[in-house]
Amino acid sequence: MPEQLDVLVICGSLRKGSYNAALARMLPQWAPASMALRPAASFASFPIYNADLQTTNGFPDEVNAWAEAIRRADGVIVVSPEYNWSIPGGLKNAIDWVSRMKEQPFKDKPVALQSAAGGILGGSRAQYHLRQSLTSIDAILFGRPEVIVTFAPQKFDEKTLELKDAAAIDLIKQQLAGFDKLIRRHSPKA
Ligand SMILES: Cc1cc2nc3c(=O)[nH]c(=O)nc-3n(C[C@H](O)[C@H](O)[C@H](O)COP(=O)(O)O)c2cc1C
Repeated sequence: MPEQLDVLVICGSLRKGSYNAALARMLPQWAPASMALRPAASFASFPIYNADLQTTNGFPDEVNAWAEAIRRADGVIVVSPEYNWSIPGGLKNAIDWVSRMKEQPFKDKPVALQSAAGGILGGSRAQYHLRQSLTSIDAILFGRPEVIVTFAPQKFDEKTLELKDAAAIDLIKQQLAGFDKLIRRHSPKA
């Protein structure tokens, strides 16, 4: 029996009623039994990256903790909306902080991407920008299937925020199963 994988889920939205946060919360029920998912801490309190801050004070404790959670994980899933056709600033800021670390947590880390957004492209542009930024810091990006939830308000229950779209759920299951395989191909621990 292979050991159970430990996968960290990072949400790119800080909003209480976030569709992406709702999606992130629902993932465990669609993951294979061989994969355990745990939510990452919020990056809401991270200061805006400034190299002078880093030089003067080092990395803030909460940034160190966020990085360590990524290091400990066998893989990472980023679930994020797109803001103005790109990565939400808070999430990009968090990635920028940890990218400056000597023991850079995304190096050789398998990462899968998911997005939900109000528009016709469902956050795909944020995904492609994340793909670009995370590749620049040596993450291993999962390819297909992509999970892109378009027109999010129509796909989530208005009251419970449950994802109701069967096609999206099917793709999510396929992605999580494929991600499990990708991690095992790359992880020395698995
Ligand atoms: C600053 C900002 C920029 C946005 N830009 C886009 C966009 O480029 N494409 C899109 O589909 N939706 C865009 N939206 C709408 C979001 O998709 C929508 O608010 C979505 O619910 C955000 O995700 P969340 O529910 O996880 O917070 C934007 C929203 C905000 C607040």
